[in-house]
Amino acid sequence: MRTTIDLDGNVLSLRGSTGTIIVGKPGSGKSVLTTYLLLEILKLGGFALVCDTKRSDFYSLKDYLINGNERVASSPSQVAKILRQLSDLMTNRYETHMGNWGMDWVDYNLRPVVLIFDEFSATIAEADKKTEAEIDKYLKQIIFKSRQMGGIYTILASQRLTADVLGRNVTSEFSTRIGMNYLDSISQSLAFPGCDTSEMPIIPNIPGYGLIYDDHFSNLGIPQPFIAPDISQVTIPEIVKKLDSRYYVNNFAKEDYWQW
Ligand SMILES: Nc1ncnc2c1ncn2[C@@H]1O[C@H](COP(=O)(O)OP(=O)(O)OP(=O)(O)O)[C@@H](O)[C@H]1O
Ligand SMILES: [Mg+2]
Repeated sequence: MRTTIDLDGNVLSLRGSTGTIIVGKPGSGKSVLTTYLLLEILKLGGFALVCDTKRSDFYSLKDYLINGNERVASSPSQVAKILRQLSDLMTNRYETHMGNWGMDWVDYNLRPVVLIFDEFSATIAEADKKTEAEIDKYLKQIIFKSRQMGGIYTILASQRLTADVLGRNVTSEFSTRIGMNYLDSISQSLAFPGCDTSEMPIIPNIPGYGLIYDDHFSNLGIPQPFIAPDISQVTIPEIVKKLDSRYYVNNFAKEDYWQW
């Protein structure tokens, strides 16, 4: 199973990774980059689940993914439901595949799941206290525990990143951290914890330009400039539909507890 994707020469691995967090102001290119990463993961056979309570581009995927209404959440309570289902999937995967020390979801040929979360801060702002607490709880479980057997790769995009939206202990658990364009200092310190801001390369405010840091990079904590691919010529929904249906019957291990 191939488990890596390329982003402007940076190799990102789904294996051993929790996911990617993308921060940037409106129009900086978060959704386009999220879409690019989604397509690359679908090519690997990934199964997509989508949270988009702003009902922007990703919301329309409900009409293109198989059983799309169950896979695209457009309200905070639907988000909480999808996260709970994912948390259950993770628990089932751990319980079913216990015993072989050190083996992971790739060894067991489990289908990777990609969880798309567009505009996380908007969802949190919209949620009532109970739902917010639920979202927070399940998302933490997924981020903290999915790495080995969960096989769940989270891509979370957010305009604002402050400690009350998503705590530093959670943001720093994302294997890959990306800031699009120029970031305010609070977002910067949350996106790149421990990095010396004075050493940070300057990024122009051009859509698609950003900084990336990945736990597997060898350069000591300094985010690197990159340019996200321009996919404006790609007919996204059609390609998503094609890739999703191609893997509907797939060669991954059969999982009786699979919910979708
Ligand atoms: N990699 C890219 N190459 C070329 N153009 C891009 C790229 N990324 C984004 N753009 C342009 O910038 C526009 C805004 O991008 P996008 O919707 O991804 O921003 P965003 O950060 O998600 O904004 P919002 O916070 O409003 O959702 C796109 O419609 C596209 O025209
Ligand atoms: Mg967007």
